[in-house]
Amino acid sequence: MQMLLEKASDTELIQSPLNYTGGKFKLLPQILPLFPQNIDIFVDLFCGGANVGVNVQSNRTILNDTNDNLTYLFSMFKNFGDEFLSMIEEIIDTYGLSNTSKYGYEYYKCDSNTGLAPYNKDKFLKLREDFNKKTSLDYYYYAMLYTLILYSFNNQIRFNSQGKFNLPAGKRDFNEKMKEKLKKFIARLESKDYEFSNKDFREFDISKLNSNSFVYADPPYLITCATYNEQGGWSNKDEEDLLSFLDDLHNNNIKFALSNVLRSKNKENKILINWARNNADKYRVINLNYNYSNSNYQTKNKNSVTEEVLIINY
Ligand SMILES: C[S@@+](CC[C@H](N)C(=O)[O-])C[C@H]1O[C@@H](n2cnc3c(N)ncnc32)[C@H](O)[C@@H]1O
Repeated sequence: MQMLLEKASDTELIQSPLNYTGGKFKLLPQILPLFPQNIDIFVDLFCGGANVGVNVQSNRTILNDTNDNLTYLFSMFKNFGDEFLSMIEEIIDTYGLSNTSKYGYEYYKCDSNTGLAPYNKDKFLKLREDFNKKTSLDYYYYAMLYTLILYSFNNQIRFNSQGKFNLPAGKRDFNEKMKEKLKKFIARLESKDYEFSNKDFREFDISKLNSNSFVYADPPYLITCATYNEQGGWSNKDEEDLLSFLDDLHNNNIKFALSNVLRSKNKENKILINWARNNADKYRVINLNYNYSNSNYQTKNKNSVTEEVLIINY
């Protein structure tokens, strides 16, 4: 019985505690069944919030992203679990931020429209200022960063061009739901062999992969925009380099799946459409059924169609 219970929680789909734009949690029920079975090494090449990486069964998983704030946070979660949680509570106390899981919502006299933002605003700005002044990227730095994310607008993570965290206070705090999410995520990271890496995808060493490896690529989308696409963005050249990286994987007998959109809001990704067409004998385009109208970075216009696809080589 015990074994069965453990097995069930091993496979429960869990959500990232980072509310990551472009996160694939909602798409998991559609994409996971399309992934290969018996994966030895799984690579989440553009892991973002790691919604995919932590939900794929494999012997070993590599979470890769050029944004090292993400992967360092994950490694803090994995290596310092409970201690990290206590550190967050300590920061909440030090800055006097709201703590609804302890005192309830009534205590803060907030209304449902503005949430906790009016109460937390000044305290949040003080924490943000201290964080932005910090020069050593130690354990405390990442605890401060995660606390900022918890109390920031939409739980997002965003830095300006000077590298300063620049989001305003949000409506919520480290409530029970968020705590639960973080605890499950930490337990998942502790449960098996996760490795963290910060390579640009072009630098990712594929020589250590083999025919039982599987690479999932969820890059910034060329024809939609997101926070991580603001500075510098994702260019045609990036798109072309990624497609030739995927060709390399194929030529080395390594399975891959690419998430993307072919068309969105009257735009189309010609580079991707042509690549898929030219390789129709090797790669398969699977249309997913996903309504992005609830998502952060897509239009609310119900008439605009977003063609979300998964392109696979197996
Ligand atoms: C669409 S998001 C991934 C979302 C993720 N699948 C999830 O469910 O949370 C794309 C990610 O690609 C990362 N990225 C952008 N350029 C990159 C590059 N050249 N190499 C590796 N990662 C990159 C961004 O930092 C961002 O986190």
